[in-house]
Amino acid sequence: MKEKLEQIKAEAIAALNSVDLPADLENVRVRFLGKKGEMTAILKQMGSLSPQERPVIGQLANQIRSEIEKQISDTAARLEEKHLEERMKKEKLDVTIPGTPVAFGHKHPMSILLDEAKDFFIGMGFTIAEGPEVELSVYDFDKLNIPEGHTVREWQDTFYITEDEKIHLRCQTSPVQVRVMEKQKPPIRIISPGRVYRKDEVDATHSPMFHQIEGLVVDKGITMGDLKGTINALIRYIYGENSVTRFRPHHFPFTEPSCEVDVQCHVCGGKGCRVCKGEGWIEVLGAGMVHPRVLAGCGIDPNEYSGFAFGIGAERLTMRRFGITDMRLIFENDMRFLQQF
Ligand code: PHE
Repeated sequence: MKEKLEQIKAEAIAALNSVDLPADLENVRVRFLGKKGEMTAILKQMGSLSPQERPVIGQLANQIRSEIEKQISDTAARLEEKHLEERMKKEKLDVTIPGTPVAFGHKHPMSILLDEAKDFFIGMGFTIAEGPEVELSVYDFDKLNIPEGHTVREWQDTFYITEDEKIHLRCQTSPVQVRVMEKQKPPIRIISPGRVYRKDEVDATHSPMFHQIEGLVVDKGITMGDLKGTINALIRYIYGENSVTRFRPHHFPFTEPSCEVDVQCHVCGGKGCRVCKGEGWIEVLGAGMVHPRVLAGCGIDPNEYSGFAFGIGAERLTMRRFGITDMRLIFENDMRFLQQF
């Protein structure tokens, strides 16, 4: 029996040495160690041994069994390693092959300018507020001191959504002022960039959809001086230290006093040219001190608080910044144009 065991061991080792696949390894295990395997068969014959032989053979059988088990696990490790090596050979990659070029996108000129403006205002302690583009007329008109009968409320000026004229596409970002003031107590310092809509014909300086950046500051003791200082700082930030501004008196129903702000034409330096249409100046925003009636309508006491507001024409600002002379280029998405920025 001893010889038989030694023979099994030798056969098992030989079989394991020639195993190449995990499935074959399993077959070898079953053949030698399985329930119906050769070792089991031998052990079943133990009963026929003499009491003296039994422990000796039993010990040898256990020893051989564990030796075969060890060989099996070694073979499993060998197969695993071989498999890994083959995979690595197959999957080897050549890092010297030139890659496929990735086309980098870049910002649209409007985004460049909007980001610059946001950076500037955030640096001044402003936060960014948002409001809906489909707006209630109460917010875009009534609460901004634009009563019924005012010309901007005419059908030829406004894109109404409902027959009763109570919902429309906002024609300015100013309703965000009201929405913020209704929710927030002063001090308030916000800007609100976004799309606005007007029934304008498309030409070099008009589009039925364009962008504004609304600004609002409300606190104790805010004056026109704060308004001028903020706007001048913005214009210098965007157009450079030497840019010149002009504040012209104007009228807006929701600010009093009101003004429009022009920037001196960068092409002709104020003499008048094609870019500024002979004016020497380019209008970029409307502004003013928030009307006491608007403050009061939002629950802010105009005797305690004052504020200034402005609405910047973002396309105008961008056109002046990059020397773009036709607003249509901003919206047409012609790659030849956009790639220049
Ligand atoms: N909403 C005005 C416009 O669209 C601009 C403006 C904003 C004026 C805030 C004064 C204060 O022309």
